[in-house]
Amino acid sequence: MKKIALTGIKPTGILHIGNYFGAIKPALRLAREYDARYFIADYHALNTVKDPQMLAAHIREVAAGWLAAGLNPEEVLFYRQSAIPETFELTTILMAFTSKGLMNRAHAYKAAVQENLENHADPDAGINMGLFTYPVLMAADILLFNPDVVPVGKDQVQHVEMAQDIAQGINFTYSGEILKIPQAAVQAEVAVVPGLDGQKMSKSYGNTIPLFAPEKQLRKLIMRIVTNSQGVEEPKDPETSQIYRLYKLFASAEEQQALAKQYREGGMGWGDAKEELFQVVHRELSPLRDRFEAIIAEPGTIDTILAQGAAKARPLAQATLNRLRRAVGIAG
Ligand code: TRP
Repeated sequence: MKKIALTGIKPTGILHIGNYFGAIKPALRLAREYDARYFIADYHALNTVKDPQMLAAHIREVAAGWLAAGLNPEEVLFYRQSAIPETFELTTILMAFTSKGLMNRAHAYKAAVQENLENHADPDAGINMGLFTYPVLMAADILLFNPDVVPVGKDQVQHVEMAQDIAQGINFTYSGEILKIPQAAVQAEVAVVPGLDGQKMSKSYGNTIPLFAPEKQLRKLIMRIVTNSQGVEEPKDPETSQIYRLYKLFASAEEQQALAKQYREGGMGWGDAKEELFQVVHRELSPLRDRFEAIIAEPGTIDTILAQGAAKARPLAQATLNRLRRAVGIAG
């Protein structure tokens, strides 16, 4: 029996190459060995996305993006969180086992309070209960499907630990292995993908390269990467160049060595380095973009794929929920 991997994808914006190397590729690699359950966390996105057209568009874009990147819905259970109503009943049960103090310690909530304090605002200004209870909904997503591992970025590890705490509380209360205790799996070897300004690529820094940018925009963004003032003739250190760090993600070992040599020899300007980068990025991403465009042009097909995934996922969710309902005395 294969072990189970589960992760959630929050549809809050267009996918960028940081998502591709940091989340999509590692998750698809994991899906070769694990029984994978990957879902779109649309109710998590509702906490921040209040424009209905935008939310609907993000959901389809993110689904099309993962499909274009190679997610095979025959092999990976791929569904929308909102299509699994058992999630929300489980959330209610979990609430009874989650101390408020645990939620007070959640990094995302604490950061939001901190920001308010710095702005001399009410500590809870702009914070909705969805944000405050975010880790409980996430625990329900996880615990419903009995995963062994939950592949996540570092920022989500605390949430997985909270899911462990909550599940342990339930198992302790009812003296049994009612819920499986999941483990967070952080992809250790994933390099931080640098953004256009050299900081980590992130939507919140506004320094991203969209995964499906049209060729012209892609070239323009790459040409905008910030560099130092070293002249063409000067030898350059590849390891401290974010152009080279990006290049490494897309190029073969031989290409990497050849370009590093050119950097060190001098005679290569930043403009040439950017052109080399553009070539390898374009080579890898253009087939992906073509697939994405074909998929997004047929929203009905995306919806069908997700609905079929949900139909396969629901019986699994019902089994966990029924076990728990019986344990707590809600259903006989
Ligand atoms: N919170 C995750 C994020 O922001 C998304 C998510 C929701 C998730 N539910 C999950 C991840 C369950 C792993 C497991 O990226």
